[in-house]
Amino acid sequence: MRPYIICHMASCIDGKIDGEALGAVMRHGKYEAIAKRLGGSGWICGRTTMQQHFAEPEPFFSTSNEPAGNQPVHVAREASSYAISVDTLGKLRWSSDNLDRDHLICIISEQVPSDYLKMLREKGISYIVSGASSIDLTGAMDSFRKYFGINTLLLEGGGHINGAFVEAGLVDEVSLLLVPGIDGRHDIPTVFDGLSKSVTVALKLKSVEQLESDALWIRYEVIPAQEGEDSCKA
Ligand SMILES: NC(=O)c1ccc[n+]([C@@H]2O[C@H](COP(=O)([O-])OP(=O)(O)OC[C@H]3O[C@@H](n4cnc5c(N)ncnc54)[C@H](OP(=O)(O)O)[C@@H]3O)[C@@H](O)[C@H]2O)c1
Repeated sequence: MRPYIICHMASCIDGKIDGEALGAVMRHGKYEAIAKRLGGSGWICGRTTMQQHFAEPEPFFSTSNEPAGNQPVHVAREASSYAISVDTLGKLRWSSDNLDRDHLICIISEQVPSDYLKMLREKGISYIVSGASSIDLTGAMDSFRKYFGINTLLLEGGGHINGAFVEAGLVDEVSLLLVPGIDGRHDIPTVFDGLSKSVTVALKLKSVEQLESDALWIRYEVIPAQEGEDSCKA
């Protein structure tokens, strides 16, 4: 049993999600305030986003370079809220066991060096090893409920990790803070990137709220593939 997963993102009207560009047209703190309204006891981000905003600037350097292989889930401590990173090879270096007071859980693959796991344990960070060479997202999600009691999880980008979650059928809802701006540059990440299927994922409108400063908060339910598939093939 996995948690209920809401992909919560802010974007310009062209779907671009670059934080600096958004900051020019978005009211400070609005994204976080909406996340609070969504609830949930955990939020999760891809390695690139974690590197940009939360991890230490220098990557982890392994002296062993010896893959840890299959390992049990490590629960360093229980908490009321969790911050979760998805980092296939254990590149992110952490200075503490929490991000903004949310206890840190790292999802890593079996390729991660054993001294990386040792570093996590020494810092009091929890981890889930899932997947032989790339991360098995579905397997990792099952552990969240079982070991950490997470019932609702906010998936908070960037575009590639969001795309991977959608492709794995792991997104139940999309919460989009649409801000009144056009970015339009090439090579800027979008809300969902890197999907390989030629089938558009169908959504059902749940609610729309007009916010101050001309922003919109739009919530969609994801229609499960067998219901939406036929009508949406490209
Ligand atoms: N506006 C918003 O609401 C918002 C929110 C968050 C981020 N952002 C922006 O999004 C940008 C980053 O987005 P991004 O798409 O480049 O990176 P991302 O989604 O943050 O991270 C992608 C990385 O996650 C790791 N990963 C592990 N398993 C994966 C899997 N199954 N599928 C995909 N990735 C996996 C991969 O790195 P490894 O292979 O090394 O593990 C991959 O390169 C930044 O500019 C950030 O500021 C915006």
